[in-house]
Amino acid sequence: MSLTLQRDDLLRSKHFIGGRWCEAASGARYDVEDPALARAFASVPDGGADDARAALESAHAAFPAWRAVPARDRSRILARWNALLLEHKEDLGKLISREQGKPLAEAIGEIAYAASYVEWFAAEAVRSYGDVIPPPVRGRQMFAVKEPVGVIAAISPWNFPAAMIARKIAPALAAGCTVVAKPAEDTPLTALALAKLAEEAGVPAGVLNLVTASRAHAPEVVDVWLADTRVRKLTFTGSTPVGRHLARASADTLKKLSLELGGNAPFIVFEDADLDAAVDGLMASKFRNGGQTCVCPNRVYVHDAVHDDFVQRLVKRVAALKVGPASDPVSQIGPLINARAVEKVERHVRDALSKGAQVVSGGEPLPALGPNYFQPTVLTGVTATMDCSCEETFGPVVPVSRFNDEGAVVAEANGTPYGLAAYFYTRDVRRIARLASALESGLIGINEGAVAAEAAPFGGIKASGYGREGSRYGIDEYMHIKYLCQGGLD
Ligand code: SIN
Repeated sequence: MSLTLQRDDLLRSKHFIGGRWCEAASGARYDVEDPALARAFASVPDGGADDARAALESAHAAFPAWRAVPARDRSRILARWNALLLEHKEDLGKLISREQGKPLAEAIGEIAYAASYVEWFAAEAVRSYGDVIPPPVRGRQMFAVKEPVGVIAAISPWNFPAAMIARKIAPALAAGCTVVAKPAEDTPLTALALAKLAEEAGVPAGVLNLVTASRAHAPEVVDVWLADTRVRKLTFTGSTPVGRHLARASADTLKKLSLELGGNAPFIVFEDADLDAAVDGLMASKFRNGGQTCVCPNRVYVHDAVHDDFVQRLVKRVAALKVGPASDPVSQIGPLINARAVEKVERHVRDALSKGAQVVSGGEPLPALGPNYFQPTVLTGVTATMDCSCEETFGPVVPVSRFNDEGAVVAEANGTPYGLAAYFYTRDVRRIARLASALESGLIGINEGAVAAEAAPFGGIKASGYGREGSRYGIDEYMHIKYLCQGGLD
């Protein structure tokens, strides 16, 4: 099926380097697939080391002029980019749906989410204040000023093809950094369209550079950036093993790093919870993007006293979810990204069943719809040793376990190397204070399943990484502090 956009020129098929749209130096290209059909519908350059170097040269050359642009003017450019994203949200949403698979309404919602980060950092650009420090001796003035770190490399994931790259590029540009970026292999088209609109918004040539590459060639691109001291910061969203590799490989050049890595979020429902609110929160959080979200609940613990009631309400809602292609306006859950994702979900369900869990809803792939669909699924009787408790499933599966002791459930919730998001539902204010402190996690939803927002600091602890995106802290990830000491003033 063809892709019809109001603006055809938002379907880009080349790298964006130094303000030019160009092919890979090798001339190679790779196919972009529609996950609903597992069939190619577009192609982009398959970049390599030469393209990565060209992007880096441009970003490096553009840095002195961009950092000298007054913050107010950088802010205006970002504000225009935000306006263009919103103006073209339907076209951008169609690109997301086509290459990533999420339903169109959700994809358009993602554009609004991406734009909210651009709007936020347009405003932060003019507020990156430093400090005037009271001097300890006479005749001195002391200041702490914030400066852009330089060229930054951004590596973004496929699950939010617009929002994740926007929340890296926007603070970088706001801070006065220039950017080399590699969007995820599966979803390059949305990022290229975003770059086209950034160009129209007035981002100067060389300030933003995008190199696309297939899974096989992506390491060649990234290795160039990792090895080069001119790349001063790396920001990455993706898996913990890749994050560890990037941290190790950044050690020689001592890059500043932000790593938003895997999660394994607990979702705890206490006996005094508002069960309708808890089911709403779980549905919103778990089934956003079909469960392909780092912050979505991966382990659901329900108190014995309300377990059966909660599961009954949950199953009613899950069984009513409409699964189908993004192009069908009634679809609520699209396909998973690819065959490997389906295999992982199937493995988790199989493993749980073999260890004593029960399927109470779903549990099967949906080949009649296409190769990458899986039924929204609820499992009960889940225990800590099952794969679905130990690994991020990244699919539409809700694994439910029972508990009857607060201390034990907190220990189990924390019993993972990860610490990105955690959720709990209770009406007890003392318990809220206890869990808010005890849960080892970067984000906590308290009687709330949808926690992410441009105004909030997003990021993890433990094996979920470090650094924060969004909020007033987000721009600091792209700046360093310089201390100025002027003496001889008395
Ligand atoms: C993610 O899945 O990595 C990000 C999700 C979000 O921004 O809420």
